[in-house]
Amino acid sequence: MIDWKARIMTGLLALMTILGLLVSVHAGAALTPTGVTYPWNPAALAGDFLFFDAPWPPAATWTSLVALVLVVAVFAFVLAKQAQRASLKRNNIALKHMATRKQSAVLRETARTKEAAQLHPAAVNLPAGERVGQLVGRGNRWVYQGWRDLGVYVCGTGRGKTSALVIRHMLEAPGAAIMTSNKVDGVRETLAGRAGHGQTFIFDPNRIYRRDTRPDFVFNPLDYVQSAADARELAAIFEASTRKASDRGGDSQFDTAGRDMLAYFFLAAALEHDPLSQVFAWIARAEGHEVQRILARHGKTGPSSTIEGILSWPEKTKGSVYATAQRMASALADDDLLAWTSADRVRRFNPDEFIRSTDTLVLLSKDGEGSGGAILTALIRAICKTAEHAAQGNGGRLTVPLVMELDECANIVRWPELPSVYSYYGSMGIILNSYFQSRAQAIDAFGKDGWQTLWDAAATRVFGGGSGDDDFLRSLAALIGEHDEITYGSSTGKDGHTSTSTNTRKVNTLDIAALGSLPEWRAVLFSSKCRPVMVNTVPWFRDKTLTATINRTPPAKTPAPVRTAAAEAAARG
Ligand SMILES: Nc1ncnc2c1ncn2[C@@H]1O[C@H](COP(=O)(O)OP(=O)(O)OP(=O)(O)O)[C@@H](O)[C@H]1O
Ligand SMILES: [Mg+2]
Repeated sequence: MIDWKARIMTGLLALMTILGLLVSVHAGAALTPTGVTYPWNPAALAGDFLFFDAPWPPAATWTSLVALVLVVAVFAFVLAKQAQRASLKRNNIALKHMATRKQSAVLRETARTKEAAQLHPAAVNLPAGERVGQLVGRGNRWVYQGWRDLGVYVCGTGRGKTSALVIRHMLEAPGAAIMTSNKVDGVRETLAGRAGHGQTFIFDPNRIYRRDTRPDFVFNPLDYVQSAADARELAAIFEASTRKASDRGGDSQFDTAGRDMLAYFFLAAALEHDPLSQVFAWIARAEGHEVQRILARHGKTGPSSTIEGILSWPEKTKGSVYATAQRMASALADDDLLAWTSADRVRRFNPDEFIRSTDTLVLLSKDGEGSGGAILTALIRAICKTAEHAAQGNGGRLTVPLVMELDECANIVRWPELPSVYSYYGSMGIILNSYFQSRAQAIDAFGKDGWQTLWDAAATRVFGGGSGDDDFLRSLAALIGEHDEITYGSSTGKDGHTSTSTNTRKVNTLDIAALGSLPEWRAVLFSSKCRPVMVNTVPWFRDKTLTATINRTPPAKTPAPVRTAAAEAAARG
């Protein structure tokens, strides 16, 4: 087959070159006449030049050069088109070996609507699920992520996570909806599209979207610290949020002691109803004895003994533990950030009311130290814990699913517990979707084991292309599977006898090259319910309904970057 194609292409190139030269000679003769009439038959023309000394028209040199350049350009264009067609064809061949129309029915509207009604019988107008994309080659039918499925999306940068998935899921959410980001992408569209759906809350201590210096609301993570376990979880969030990839393999003794110290300082502040700033002050002033006395007074023997133990260590070691705790709590040195935890005359965020509403929460933070990542993650944790309790008190599942779109998850939602909640939040109606640009980014944030737990537990796993990670692509190719490829061959013996043969071999339905170069807006969805399917994602700006919903709110009505005189001054520095 390939042989034939190569022969045809070579023939085409030769034909185009001959034609090009023929036309060039005639064009040259027209521009600089030689008095000779040249034939249009290429063989006769060549004969005239070679055997009858026909004069070469001077202008024909230039016209020939132009013709040759044109021929090469046209040929390159044809080759590029062929490669594009081959890639599409490869995708279409792959489609034949992926889930059939019947098999993928479990992911489509009818089945998902039935499932949604069973899961949330009391929810009014509940959509079939969260739309992921339209099935390629199967009538453009939508594939839905069900209301019991948590999702992990791995798509390279610019592959449509925000514009085709996050915005869509936020706008189509039936109840309360949360999105995270470290940039403005999708914020305006989400706010405009959800205008009229209850209240809007924007957490933005780094002023990524808002310009107002006053917090939009306050949330104090200490309100959710009721036990030593809660305190340790909060400290773990602070530790993970301030850890850089390069910190891995630090001194584990100081890390553990520093984290314990921070945790029990949080506990002491919560018991005394002190603000978060007090925690940083205790650490900075090395006032462990004060904390130990508070813990002992409240009967917290274990935490009190832990602090007492650390305080009895040699000065140098103790100093290192304080330094470690201070590094983990570094975000608390930022007054602008602390204002979001205790400002006066600012509305309080109430997770319990939020999860029962149709409100919108947009959580924004820069990456890195001093950003609001730890507080943002603590807020997510508080909402998740509140939703867990609400689900438990409601027969095990929320009345209406809670939608949480963790865009830029690896950069700002460093919640060590995230991978483990993936195994049971789906059954509670807490629908988390985590978005990563690559597997490496997820491993950086959650560790190899954390990533594996997350990926394995997710009922909907989507790969949207744009990855150069060979190992990951290989594992995806293996998940998609193999199929038999039949090749036909023919050979001619010395006696002129032609024989034909048929060979069968196993090939990957989509190999790593095809996965690595998925066309734009194309994704492969791996579901726990059926074989993988290939979908086209649809960005909001190509979706009439979403565009109309977003554009129906005039920009002036969108809770927009608020520009106050104070903010302008702050922005000017
Ligand atoms: N309003 C718009 N109109 C037209 N094209 C857009 C619009 N918004 C985004 N795009 C384009 O759509 C593509 C996908 O963008 P999107 O921001 O959704 O990618 P992403 O996967 O979220 O990227 P990142 O990982 O960098 O956040 C990009 O090529 C982008 O330029
Ligand atoms: Mg994005």
